[in-house]
Amino acid sequence: MRRVPFWLWGVGGVGSTLLRLLAGESAGQRIRQRVGVEFVPVMLADSQGYLVEPAGLTPASVEQALAAKEGKGSIVNLPGARPATSASESLAGLRARMNLRGAIGVDATASDATAPALLDALEAGAGVVLSNKRPLTGPLAQFQALTRTRRLRHEATVGAGLPVISTLNGLLDSGDRITAIQGCFSGTLGYVCAALNRGESYSAAVLRAMEAGYAEPDPRDDLCGLDVARKALILSRLCGRALELSDLQVRPMIPARLDGLSKEEFLRRLPEADAEMADMVRQAAGRKQVLSYVADLSAPAPTGGLQSVDAAGPLGRLAGTDNIILFYTERYHDTPLSVQGPGAGRAVTASGILTDMITLAREELGHD
Ligand SMILES: NC(=O)c1ccc[n+]([C@@H]2O[C@H](COP(=O)([O-])OP(=O)(O)OC[C@H]3O[C@@H](n4cnc5c(N)ncnc54)[C@H](OP(=O)(O)O)[C@@H]3O)[C@@H](O)[C@H]2O)c1
Repeated sequence: MRRVPFWLWGVGGVGSTLLRLLAGESAGQRIRQRVGVEFVPVMLADSQGYLVEPAGLTPASVEQALAAKEGKGSIVNLPGARPATSASESLAGLRARMNLRGAIGVDATASDATAPALLDALEAGAGVVLSNKRPLTGPLAQFQALTRTRRLRHEATVGAGLPVISTLNGLLDSGDRITAIQGCFSGTLGYVCAALNRGESYSAAVLRAMEAGYAEPDPRDDLCGLDVARKALILSRLCGRALELSDLQVRPMIPARLDGLSKEEFLRRLPEADAEMADMVRQAAGRKQVLSYVADLSAPAPTGGLQSVDAAGPLGRLAGTDNIILFYTERYHDTPLSVQGPGAGRAVTASGILTDMITLAREELGHD
């Protein structure tokens, strides 16, 4: 059995689920049996501090950290924890205690500021796994520096646990040429569109997405299209396109009349947009179409926005919070290669991270 040390930045919804998966009987044991690897947590960090133990944190210590975070507490208040307010600071604490070669660092934060620490970890010979999209959607030079080695994996950044990045890399590695990528990249926007198409009002659909825990605490973070833009940028950059986030043209799924309000005012005035949205649904239905928030990477500037699409087509048939990514290539030209399924959720996102950790343990770090 090979012991692979890993550390985790971000013990939030996704990070906690990852730790629970690894601690549980089924996943942890199956990985040991099938892969011959035991992932050993050596550092857990949140935005205030970290717990570190190069020999491996005990299950009791991991459980304490999980309980603290579930109770909205901070790791820094746990016995033996150290303060650190940046990923670089906690990484320095870890590096002072162990050699990172062959270990894996997981960024499950939603922070803009982890990139320097990720680069340091790669430089030190570690593998890095991201569910955090932000490091890959900053300046192009930062994306290029991070992705110059396959020791950085980021399957969970697009489509959560769906094999989107591995499919794209497989097509590119095997010499296929991507002609277009199209799809629905947001579980939250898919959920709202599906509700609108069923005849629900815009205000009810947005509030239900919030209640169900699909939307961000401020639903405009989803509705503005930025999350879709980040995913579209990652896929475009992997295809070799030299784009910045500001080059993408995404249209918010928020009527202009509700621009610039506080969150409370926005939620209170949501019903003002109901008639306009219902009218768009009616017009689409008249053409046997439905509304869908579609990203299209084929144009010189990738776009995202609400469109009416064929109700019987792959985009129109999408249900619930599912994502679909259609790859049109030289080899897949008449029928695209499509990847479809739940594109959000803690368990599937943690599963995407775990798959990357296993790939790293098997393929990359094993040969260093
Ligand atoms: N949920 C999904 O379905 C999904 C799908 C795909 C990708 N993702 C991405 O996965 C990431 C995590 O999502 P989530 O839902 O778990 O978010 P979350 O619940 O908000 O958790 C984020 C965590 O990051 C921590 N953090 C912030 N800065 C840090 C730092 N410098 N060092 C260490 N930890 C730090 C926060 O600590 P504090 O608790 O101290 O604030 C928090 O625990 C996000 O980037 C998200 O976009 C999520």
